[in-house]
Amino acid sequence: MSSGWVKVCREDEIPADEGKQVEVDGIAIGLYRLEDGCYALNDICTHAFAHLTTGWVEDDTVECPLHHARFEIRTGKALDGIAPEDVEAYAVKVEDGDVYVELGAGDEGAAPDEGTDSQLADTLLELLKSGAGAGEWKPILAEAAEFEVLGSHLQGSDAVAERLGGTETKHLEWSRLEKPGCILIGQPRSATNDRGMALMFASTEVGVTRVSQQNLAMPPRPAMPMAMDAAIRERIDNALAAKRPMSLSYVDAEGRPHLSLRGSILSIADDQLGLWARSAETGLAAAVSANANVALLYRDEETRATYQIRGRASVAEDEATRAQIYNAMPKVERDHDFAMLGSAIVIELDVVEGWAGIGPNGPINPVRMVRGQA
Ligand code: FES
Repeated sequence: MSSGWVKVCREDEIPADEGKQVEVDGIAIGLYRLEDGCYALNDICTHAFAHLTTGWVEDDTVECPLHHARFEIRTGKALDGIAPEDVEAYAVKVEDGDVYVELGAGDEGAAPDEGTDSQLADTLLELLKSGAGAGEWKPILAEAAEFEVLGSHLQGSDAVAERLGGTETKHLEWSRLEKPGCILIGQPRSATNDRGMALMFASTEVGVTRVSQQNLAMPPRPAMPMAMDAAIRERIDNALAAKRPMSLSYVDAEGRPHLSLRGSILSIADDQLGLWARSAETGLAAAVSANANVALLYRDEETRATYQIRGRASVAEDEATRAQIYNAMPKVERDHDFAMLGSAIVIELDVVEGWAGIGPNGPINPVRMVRGQA
């Protein structure tokens, strides 16, 4: 900690009717210029958390921008009863136009204590709950504040205040996570399909220095009836030709999971898939006789079209279905089993969920089709 007098700025850098914030040993200090000289106060309001220098100076008092507590500039005395305590006043002297501040013996800089942390968290929660705009966020931000979210970085209190005061935070229900640090969780209100977020705030005595946003998992989409449209069916039918073979998983009679890449899966109805398994006695055909549950994954890395599919598979015994599926297979598949020794597998679809791509506004044509959904 600095001892004795610390030079903080030139006197003419303090506006006549506004405060000026400076930082000494990590402590935010507000400087004011009145008729009879310069004064210095701790810049953090004792009510919740806001920088007094972003408030208003009037009649030798400074008014907090958040809930309008007023303090005497000469003494730091709290007026009006809103703020529970006075703010600390520091000794100031001016020599040759330079302003010096002397911190008291007990003034420690650096990170805020637990009380300040909790004050700050209360203020942040209040701002989020009330849907505060950029102007209300600005007083609690350090000038060089940063905002981080996957793929984007903002720098400076103006940009961060705009982001926090924007529409994204406004439609969520906010609460504080019961964990060390200051993490606030915004959950979508029930009836909406919005995505929630967690905001983690880092701060020092000069205010919030960093905000990190983590998006929460998407809420489940409302279920639609099971009926794949032509676009989804075409993707599945062309998966092999497009070099995007689908993955299929099944579980054998011993409960062991298996994964295989399948190029020749076809949509044989809007709620059914079919494929040809070359061996009738082993692998998939044998496994689904014991456990019908299967899962499939389609992914197009270019468009990011993604479909996760679940269903129940069975071996078709009737010749008409065997012939239908065999004849619909690509030539390469038929050539591997020209004697038709394999099995025709029919998959009754239970769930198809995913999207046709990812655009600037998120998933394109998202679907969640569920068998039995009216
Ligand atoms: S009056 Fe200053 S933070 Fe509430």
